[in-house]
Amino acid sequence: MVDLHFMAAPFVFGKLAVEKNFTNRKQELERLLFNFSSLTSTILISPRRWGKSSLVAKAAVQAQQKNKKLKFCFIDLFNIRTEEQFYQLLAQQVLKASASKLEEITENAKNFFGQIIPKISFSPDNVSEISLGLDWKEVKKNPDDILNLPEKIAKAKGVNFVICIDEFQNIAELPNQLAVQKKLRANWQKHQNVTYCLYGSKRHMLMDVFTSSSMPFYKFGDIIFLEKIAETDWIRFIKKKFKETGKTIASSEAKAIAQLVECHPYYVQQLAQQTWFRTNVNCSAEIVQDAHESLILQLSLLFQTITDELTSTQVNYLKAMIRNEKHLSSKHTIEKYNLGTSANVLRIRKALLKKEIIDKQGKSYIILDPLYKAWLKTINLR
Ligand SMILES: Nc1ncnc2c1ncn2[C@@H]1O[C@H](COP(=O)(O)OP(=O)(O)O)[C@@H](O)[C@H]1O
Ligand SMILES: [Mg+2]
Repeated sequence: MVDLHFMAAPFVFGKLAVEKNFTNRKQELERLLFNFSSLTSTILISPRRWGKSSLVAKAAVQAQQKNKKLKFCFIDLFNIRTEEQFYQLLAQQVLKASASKLEEITENAKNFFGQIIPKISFSPDNVSEISLGLDWKEVKKNPDDILNLPEKIAKAKGVNFVICIDEFQNIAELPNQLAVQKKLRANWQKHQNVTYCLYGSKRHMLMDVFTSSSMPFYKFGDIIFLEKIAETDWIRFIKKKFKETGKTIASSEAKAIAQLVECHPYYVQQLAQQTWFRTNVNCSAEIVQDAHESLILQLSLLFQTITDELTSTQVNYLKAMIRNEKHLSSKHTIEKYNLGTSANVLRIRKALLKKEIIDKQGKSYIILDPLYKAWLKTINLR
């Protein structure tokens, strides 16, 4: 018997994979838990939608269960455009994590801010939704006051903070980004009771920030490159989800789902969901194919827009990639695909890396989005 309330689609995408929707990542979880408890800073890098945010959220839940002294603070740089907004958000989230009671939060704001005195406002129906009013002129004089806020509170209260900063690549979009990075690093490296978990996509840019000796964040912490989830794990996961909801899928079809989207975590969940919707009781190979084609169709408008924003040589470069040309900067390929000069090939590559359309894997380059790749193959590239 299948309980009806289980009949909602058992796959999630576009939001964090938590609890029963989170699968595997055992080694990465362990490494993060170890880093959090030993207060080792972590840099977690992978392309978009491979599971960074889900992993950090999961590790945070587990770490807190094990160690009540750990306080987690989540900051997303996605919408941060200025240094001011960053400090504002940091101060706000640290205060929020510093106590559970309203009075205590206000007390902490008074006691730990040094020169700057913030105005705090609370949302009437949700006290954890605090927002902070800071005098930017004051903050500018003493930004260290904010950067050292978690360390001060941690010391005084005998707790440890883990500051998790998502979409960290956006730090490079701030005005004066190098000066900001210098300030952060100079303060953060003195912290004894606080650790940082910085994560984001744009590997190229993050590698530059964390591995070039001329950059402020050089050797800041343990760098983890998050991989996709293995095919065998996906097969097990998909079969289990079907079974729990009264449907069946054979290993071969579950495998097809994983393979059609190259084990890309977001897309595996999305394709599995669409397959599940089309399946009455038993899934067939045709259903998986249909779901895949329909997914590409749904995304085609988006893919068309992405392609329209590329130059014609960039499109030619992608064309050479999907035709499996091995030596993209060889004279032969350059002529065949009209790529200009070898210097031009380097420029094309750099632009496509920056747009997160391609990435370097080992020695070769890959197209990151498996469905974009499939779509490119279906359209008639000139
Ligand atoms: N461990 C996991 N188990 C199952 N699905 C996952 C897992 N990690 C990620 N996903 C899938 O990938 C999607 C994107 O994950 P997310 O953590 O937001 O990636 P990122 O932060 O790297 O962009 C999730 O919505 C979910 O569908
Ligand atoms: Mg994320």
